[in-house]
Amino acid sequence: MANSFTSQNQSMPSTGRSTQVISVTSGKGGVGKSTLVANLAVELEKQGKRVLLFDGDLGMANLDIFFQVRPQLNISHVLSGEADIRDIIVPISPSISLIPGGSGVFELQRMAPHAKQVLLDQVSDLGTIYDVMLIDTAPGIADHVLYLNSAAQEILVVLTPDPSSLTDAYALIKVLHQRQRETKFSVVTNQVRDEADGWRIFHRLESVAAQFLPVSLKYRGFVPADPHLRHCTRGQQLVTKSVPQAESSRAIARLARDLALPGLEYGPGHSTSQGFSEVECKGNLQFFWRQLIGAA
Ligand SMILES: Nc1ncnc2c1ncn2[C@@H]1O[C@H](COP(=O)(O)OP(=O)(O)OP(=O)(O)O)[C@@H](O)[C@H]1O
Ligand SMILES: [Mg+2]
Repeated sequence: MANSFTSQNQSMPSTGRSTQVISVTSGKGGVGKSTLVANLAVELEKQGKRVLLFDGDLGMANLDIFFQVRPQLNISHVLSGEADIRDIIVPISPSISLIPGGSGVFELQRMAPHAKQVLLDQVSDLGTIYDVMLIDTAPGIADHVLYLNSAAQEILVVLTPDPSSLTDAYALIKVLHQRQRETKFSVVTNQVRDEADGWRIFHRLESVAAQFLPVSLKYRGFVPADPHLRHCTRGQQLVTKSVPQAESSRAIARLARDLALPGLEYGPGHSTSQGFSEVECKGNLQFFWRQLIGAA
């Protein structure tokens, strides 16, 4: 079987650091998660980062469409033993690779203990290759979405001015807190008018959360509603590539810069890159997989 990881990515030198694992998620669908993930990957690559994308949206797996690749294999082939995790990684550009999720993401938690160990051994090789892993999740509170989010180091909730985006984001945060004991979330506002509008929407969510839940939210920034972005998406293009000077491209570049800052604090209690805490362990790719598959 063709081994795309070993043939194309193995030459990537080790980063010497653990991978920053960020899930991009939302309560409501259609807020712009996949668009953001794909464009963030482009910006992170421009900034010299090596990026692994994980398409965790089962129904609408569209990261491959953005990058115009057609993966033949996905996580379900790893579960069935037909492929090694490294076989399914699709190289997209010199510094971006994609793990196609597929319906296998539903079944990760139900793997036999032996199969879990095999998978963990396979991913241990990946741990030092990538600077950042971005996970594109499905919207809502389905179990596999909760697992993907709580296995990540940072849960980035995408919020839009639509009132139902606010209530659904709150519901997601509440469930992640109640079921997975998550207490820290970061938020990006999308499709907003301007910076002030973004802050206003973030503060609305923050004030509701502060009233009812013991969680802390960190604001990561905003992406404006931008006809350039909409136009590019419709044509299956990435705005950060096609129109780098567009307002949305510049906003996504800013977000990428902030996300990639080593040791950036995003809430009380979080460690710096020099620190040694549970959060630091969570940055490790193997930790992510261990959490995701529920390995002891
Ligand atoms: N900043 C923006 N300005 C204009 N249009 C945007 C912006 N962000 C996203 N969109 C548009 O919103 C639509 C939904 O985007 P996208 O598919 O990325 O959302 P999603 O959250 O991944 O959806 P789903 O929940 O179905 O996976 C697309 O048509 C996209 O072009
Ligand atoms: Mg999507």
